[in-house]
Amino acid sequence: MRYLIQTWGCQMNTHDSEKLAGILEALGHRSADDIRSADLLLLNTCSIREKAEEKVFSHLGSLRPLKDLRPDLIIGLCGCVAQQKGEEVFRRSKLVDFVLGPRAIASLPSILEEVRSRRSRPMDREKRDDSIRYDALRAQRGPGPRAFITVMEGCNKTCTYCIVPTTRGREVSKPAEIVLREAVALSRAGYREVELLGQNVNAYRDGAIHLDGLLRRLQEVDGIRRLRFTTSHPTHLSEEIILAMRECPSVCNALHLPAQSGSDSVLERMRRGYTRRRYLDRIERLRRAVPDIGLSTDIIVGYPGETRSEFDDTLLLLRQVEFDQVYSFVYSPRPGTDAVLEGDAVKREEKECRLHELQSLQQEIQRRRNQALVGSMVEVLVDGFSRMGGSILKGRTTSNRVVNFPGTASRMGQFGSVQVKAAGPNSLEGRWIEAPRS
Ligand code: SAH
Ligand code: SF4
Ligand code: F3S
Repeated sequence: MRYLIQTWGCQMNTHDSEKLAGILEALGHRSADDIRSADLLLLNTCSIREKAEEKVFSHLGSLRPLKDLRPDLIIGLCGCVAQQKGEEVFRRSKLVDFVLGPRAIASLPSILEEVRSRRSRPMDREKRDDSIRYDALRAQRGPGPRAFITVMEGCNKTCTYCIVPTTRGREVSKPAEIVLREAVALSRAGYREVELLGQNVNAYRDGAIHLDGLLRRLQEVDGIRRLRFTTSHPTHLSEEIILAMRECPSVCNALHLPAQSGSDSVLERMRRGYTRRRYLDRIERLRRAVPDIGLSTDIIVGYPGETRSEFDDTLLLLRQVEFDQVYSFVYSPRPGTDAVLEGDAVKREEKECRLHELQSLQQEIQRRRNQALVGSMVEVLVDGFSRMGGSILKGRTTSNRVVNFPGTASRMGQFGSVQVKAAGPNSLEGRWIEAPRS
């Protein structure tokens, strides 16, 4: 069969799609060039906000003519919507042939067998450990020098707004020995950067080995010159992890540390388990340990009952920290979460208005921070072509800034220095100066 996988959501989902592709390749299937030539279509879905979930069902609607034309086309619904909705997916869309949860991906071959023998519309939503048991080498990755490894799956936190613990289940960690072996093999295969993934990655634990221990071991892997990890929770950001970031040259000078809000009362209602003071303390420690660290965060705007002054506290947090990137979202009530019980008191227009205000403030901050880099030299790992098209390459600095510069495909996967010529709020532009160190 020819397959096509469409992906929504976070890096975990992106990597799960690479795993699903790996499973299909092992069965002898090959990827399709476009949807019209596909025999199998997997939708790897996200349910973090209502909009994300709705997109899936409207997309399914748009597939109707194609399925009418080619009734043999198999459509599978995977990912977090699959896990959350289960049977309901079949009721809402006649087009879906099977439903497969994110922790049950290993049953894809048997599910396909079942669909092809036309016995039923199978479903597997068992919360097994398939996604961390999966051999990272089998994943079918896109081009480029960066590779993901899922080291942790699930989340044991109870943030009141969040559906992830329901869709991804309890935390499980991949044994450190296996992660190490996979990193060695990825290096031999030519990868230069490894990003460790987990919904709550800094709660990683394999017996006595925590995330800092894992980073220190991976530091020893020849050829892997960059290590990243995401997503971290402020509560689990230990001194040991900060020390490992400082002491391991391969660990990138970057951290994504979702704050969600700058208001103590909102943080408490969200059950985040830290205060604004504590969050700022973590930021201070990080900056002391890794002076040029690139920091990013997630913010939810308009959490139930968020007052103007609580929102102002969030704006103040952004001014104080001066993040390099902020991902901000309007609060969206999710079924079965505790925040739903609090209602959705902030009016839609008000939420949108606050979001806009926050984003303009942050754009200003980012522009200023990036402007300060004009004229300097930055080291990048070239990882693809820019969205600007043409012969513009894209690389990333250790601090996770995107840098665009003219160049040819032969530079792909190389490290090199770029002189920054111009800067916008979301990326830098420059000129390639120097060949790789080694
Ligand atoms: N594990 C990570 C993030 C997982 S979800 C953490 O602890 O922060 C990614 C982001 O989506 C969250 O950081 C949050 O900002 C946002 N998000 C989660 N649930 C949401 C909801 N119900 N409405 C709006 N945004 C939400
Ligand atoms: Fe969701 Fe909170 Fe877990 Fe992040 S830590 S995935 S926001 S429950
Ligand atoms: Fe979305 Fe699931 Fe990731 S809800 S953000 S795809 S863990």
